[in-house]
Order: sequence, then C-alpha cells, then structure tokens
Amino acid sequence: MDHFVYRDGVLHAEDMALPQIAKAVGTPVYVYSRATLTRHARVFRDALSVLPSVQLAFAVKSNPNLSVLKVLAAEGFGADVVSGGEMDRALAAGIAPAGVVFSGVGKTAAEMCRALEAGIGQFNLESEEEGQELAEIAAGMGKVAVCALRINPDVDAGTHGKISTGKAENKFGVPYDRAAGIYARLAALPGLQMRALALHIGSQLSSLDPLEAAFGKAGALMRKIREGGGTVTHMDLGGGVGVPYKTGDLFPQPADYAAMVARVTAEWDVTLMFEPGRVITGNVGILLTEVVRVKEGAGHPWVVVDAAMNDLARPAMYDAWHDFSAVVPTGARMTANIVGPICESSDTFALAREIDVVMRGDLAVFRTAGAYGATMASTYNSRPMVPEVMVDGDKWAVVADRIAPATILSAERVPAFLL
Ligand code: LLP
Repeated sequence: MDHFVYRDGVLHAEDMALPQIAKAVGTPVYVYSRATLTRHARVFRDALSVLPSVQLAFAVKSNPNLSVLKVLAAEGFGADVVSGGEMDRALAAGIAPAGVVFSGVGKTAAEMCRALEAGIGQFNLESEEEGQELAEIAAGMGKVAVCALRINPDVDAGTHGKISTGKAENKFGVPYDRAAGIYARLAALPGLQMRALALHIGSQLSSLDPLEAAFGKAGALMRKIREGGGTVTHMDLGGGVGVPYKTGDLFPQPADYAAMVARVTAEWDVTLMFEPGRVITGNVGILLTEVVRVKEGAGHPWVVVDAAMNDLARPAMYDAWHDFSAVVPTGARMTANIVGPICESSDTFALAREIDVVMRGDLAVFRTAGAYGATMASTYNSRPMVPEVMVDGDKWAVVADRIAPATILSAERVPAFLL
C-alpha cells in the first residue's frame, strides 16, 4: 500500500499533486512519500514483534537519502552499511553507532579503522582473511571489534542472477562447510569478539522457501558451533524480501515472513538481526518524468521520456519491470515501447507494454522506484544527477538537489601536459 493515488484525475503524492512538483523542480525527479515510508517501517517492525529479541538494520544501499534515513532512525531502525560513505550517512541521520552493521566483501583497512573509531555495533566478516586483518587493526587500536561471520549457505534464492548472493559460486560469505572452523579460529583472536552468523542469499525474493532453507542451515551451524564450545548470541538473517512491481503480483507479506522466522528460530535463544531494504523503501518512491516525444516505430510507437537508464538503472541491469502510469490519464490505452534519451538500446524501460495514452509534454511515473532508484543513478551521457523530493501531507521539500552537468564539469581538471 502506498500514498500515490489519483484525486480528481490527477496523480498525487499524499496531498501534493505531482504536476506542481514537476513545475517547481523539473523532471526527471524522484518523489518519496513520508507516510508510505513510516507505514512500511512500522508494518515490518510490528510484524517482527512476535519474535523475542530483534534488531533492525535498514539496508542503506536501497535508499541512502539522508531524510529517508532520518525517518527510519526515528522508527528505531539501525543501519546495514557497505562503505564508509554509507556509514557516514547513517551516523549523520542520527542512527546510533551501536545500531550500525558493516557488511561487504571489500572493507578496506581505512574503513575498518573509521568504523572502529565510530564504535559501530557489528562487522559482518566475509572471509577469514578479513577477520585476521580486522583483528590486527582493532588490537592495535586497543579496541575489540564485535563480529558476525557471513556464511554462504549455497541456497538458490530463485531471483535474478545478478542479485543472487547465496550460491556457492557467488563471492559472498565463507563456504558453509568451512564456516565452523573459521568461526572458532577467528574467535580465538585478540581484537575480535565473534557473536553471530550472518547470511543474505539475494534480493527481490518472491518466495520464503529459499530463506527458510538458508535459515535452517544457519541454525544447524549455530548448534554445531555451540556444541564445539563457541558462543553465538546473535543471528543476522539479512534482507531479501521482495515487493510486487507489477499490479496484481502477489508477494509474501511481512507477517508471513515473521511467522516463518518464528517457526525456524523458535529454539535459537539469540537476538535476531534483520537487514531489510526494498521491502521498506520500494513503494516509497516514484520517478516522475515527462514525455519528450512519441516517435513512430516499425512496430509499436516509441514513447521517449526524459528519464533514462542513468536515473533508473533497474530495467537495463536486471530486466526489471516498473509500472508506468500517466499523471493525468485520459482513460485511453495504447501499446508502446518506453525508452529514455540515452544512446544505447539498453536504455529501455518497457517493450510492447500496454500503457495509458501519453503525448509529448505529458507527465508520467515509474512506480515502486524508492529502492535501488536514485541510489544507483549516474550522470552517464553527461546528464544531471537526478534530484529527490520528499512529500509529507501537503508539505514537500527537495531532499537532494539536481546536480547540473556544469557542476560535475567543474570538478574536472585538464593537466598541464595537455595545455
Ligand atoms: N543485506 C545485504 C548484505 C545485502 O547485500 C542486501 C542487498 C540487503 C541486505 C538488502 O536486500 P533487500 O532487502 O533490499 O533485498 N540493485 C539491485 C538490488 C541489489 C541488492 C544488494 N544487496 C536491484 O535493484 O534489484
């Protein structure tokens, strides 16, 4: 459920008519609904309240906008970060360092140092080598790094190959069979406090079954570690719960997820940690765009919009579907291809799609663009960096400026040897 609804035939974000935002800020622009964000955060949090002890770390990568993080901080979310930049954002948003989990296969020594200085809550180690390096750095600083070991459970998440992370051939985590040994060796190092196993098998999962299989394997490993005298007080179950991008698609609800987790983890006696991203922010945003022109094609007409793959990369990267709706629909429908202005054929949002009839100058939106939208934007083709707006009832504000190509150009230098 979201707060992007038609009123008197005009698409609104909460109480704001989208044409007003387009007029003031221009297009393309991401528009977020604060009420939707708060609602999704609460639905997820409340669903998990059936579990005895829970820590929520929002996956910052899905939407790192400072205002989005502030709303989530106020809802009691910590942060799952994968870079020093994401850590800085989480802390700037007021998330307590203790609520920050640092994930990722390539944490640098400098990032580890900064995270130790900041006093973050947990490092999710992705290899024995990383654990050894962190142990040395932490001991050298007279600190103890609280850690989870990320395992690769070798479970097929059944999602797009590029966002699947829990198969043995993926780069993430340590091999399941070697994990108990690695955990024990790392636990013996001064500078590290091993307290958890972590896993994340992929994103945009449409079924809970692969998650259940992976959690089951993690539970078995936890018991093995405990039987060997090891300590496990936390288990980090990652993110991955998918959202429907196509009207009518059915996905597991947070309550279904919570019930499954409760069943699998009933005997675990741990604090459960979660790293949800898309399920919180997916429906929070739309990408508002204007139709530049409609061009006749060999087959269907080409609807050329002013948003492109640099603004919303998901269709080009993952063949992802985003519903497309006119802001002021006439009721008429047509079949068309929707493309952006970038000079490559992957700049395609939809092919042979039945959509509202749109014409040059009309406004339209790509829906469910709040997760992995603006955060993946680039300036390819020397286009501006897409801006972001947040709406709160009848109030709204630009929460990330459009960065003009001239500003980006001004950061470039021509070296003396070219002069
Ligand atoms: N935790 C870890 C360690 C992750 O790698 C991810 C996402 C998450 C949590 C959050 O997953 P979520 O709940 O959002 O599924 N750009 C792609 C998605 C990449 C996801 C990467 N990892 C897309 O647009 O579909």
